[in-house]
Amino acid sequence: MATFQDGLPDLTRTNPETGTGPEVYVETYGCQMNVYDSQVIEDLLERNGYRLGENDMAADVILLNTCSVRDLAEHKVISRVGEIRHRRSKAGLPQPLIGICGCMAERLGKDLRKGPRRVDLVVGVDSYDTLPDILRELTDDQIRSVPEAMRTQIGHRKDSHYVAPPALYPTNNSHLVTIHKGCDYKCTYCIVPYTRGPQSEKAPDTILDEIRGIVDAGGREVTLLGQNVTAYRWGEDLDFAGLIEMVAGVNGLERIRFLTGHPKDMHPHLMDTIGRLDKVCPWLHLPVQSGSDRVLRRMKRLYTSGDYLEMVDYARRVIPDVTFSADVIVGFPGETESDFQDTLEVVRRVKYDQLFSFKYSERPGVPAARLEDDVSVDEKKRRLAELIKVQEDVWIGEAAGQIGKVWTVVAEGLARRPAGSWKLRTPNNRKVVLHGASLEIGQQVRVRITESTNTTFVGELLA
Ligand code: 5AD
Ligand code: SF4
Repeated sequence: MATFQDGLPDLTRTNPETGTGPEVYVETYGCQMNVYDSQVIEDLLERNGYRLGENDMAADVILLNTCSVRDLAEHKVISRVGEIRHRRSKAGLPQPLIGICGCMAERLGKDLRKGPRRVDLVVGVDSYDTLPDILRELTDDQIRSVPEAMRTQIGHRKDSHYVAPPALYPTNNSHLVTIHKGCDYKCTYCIVPYTRGPQSEKAPDTILDEIRGIVDAGGREVTLLGQNVTAYRWGEDLDFAGLIEMVAGVNGLERIRFLTGHPKDMHPHLMDTIGRLDKVCPWLHLPVQSGSDRVLRRMKRLYTSGDYLEMVDYARRVIPDVTFSADVIVGFPGETESDFQDTLEVVRRVKYDQLFSFKYSERPGVPAARLEDDVSVDEKKRRLAELIKVQEDVWIGEAAGQIGKVWTVVAEGLARRPAGSWKLRTPNNRKVVLHGASLEIGQQVRVRITESTNTTFVGELLA
């Protein structure tokens, strides 16, 4: 099922040895795009005779699919390599082949083959189709004969797109569908345009075929994925609004979510379309990053806080029950206390359901790296804690107002605790837990909200 657009090699041939090959364990870090890519990798390897493993102690090959967006994310992966090596040798087990895939592979390339934590192979975001061949060479007991150049596969291929198989994950409630890759914006703090390359669209027909495949495999909900889905364009005429209209036309599909939008591309026409199409869930994840116009300019975000708040107001008018979530960065170079207060003000005004807040982390080679990072680590920490507290206070007030409401929710799976509880989600992305219910994944039920906790609600089942 791993297929490619535009004449790239088709590696989907069936290997006669399927099921008997080395065991591969894929560990995923970072965003949903990586979750999707890991599905692509697993499918590709399984079709080429590898077995998929569940843990790092038994696997012959361990692939870490990585994120470069912040320094800490990269450090975690490097220490994970050391941890795997250590745990395996302490247990007297043979060392696995370790590979780094994803954004770190693109950013660091051959450097990952050096030093005490070096890995055996490095494969970037557009080179996963090379994995079966490299691994075959490396697992062939001829490790020394594998040329160094083969072990590092990076660089961007604009027109190749991977398609993950729905059949691997038939019971997931929401199926991820990448609609494009890369990013043409150049937000000054961000490494993504370098690691994921320029924006390149998956063809609408490929997207629709993929979604029909998901529905045929029993899926009812998709999440359209991309760094900037709202900037999707195919030819002169098709934009993201047109694409979701086409996707909404797929028979049997019930819900469409999407991640991530850019506030600049959230045009009234798009919001009207989202509001009009019943299948499109009324939840907008729209990273604001900062509430200060001065900082937004220095970040090259291409909107002001006024533009953003106007967009939120418009969305609230035309999209029934719409909720918002966002990413925010604190401590960007030159951010003053007054800039930070502007961010808090936006958070209080929008009343987000959920906020993902980050301390600014300098990334080598991005434009912001040339600015003096003059907000101390302690000050960044303080601002982050204050932002989280303000968001909590806003949310507690909002959540309290939901008690007693009746919502339609979809069952997503068993909750970890307490035993017998179910996790459910509203179309506008609110999480609800039901205790002691007997449900099926994907089942829609009506609940009355009885309690709210930090980010989740508790409900009771209505007949
Ligand atoms: N430092 C901190 N946070 C960052 N993000 C992106 N780059 C950086 C950086 N250099 C955050 C942004 C983005 C989210 C995915 O990660 O908020 O929306
Ligand atoms: Fe990074 Fe900005 Fe592109 Fe998002 S829009 S991936 S923050 S450059």
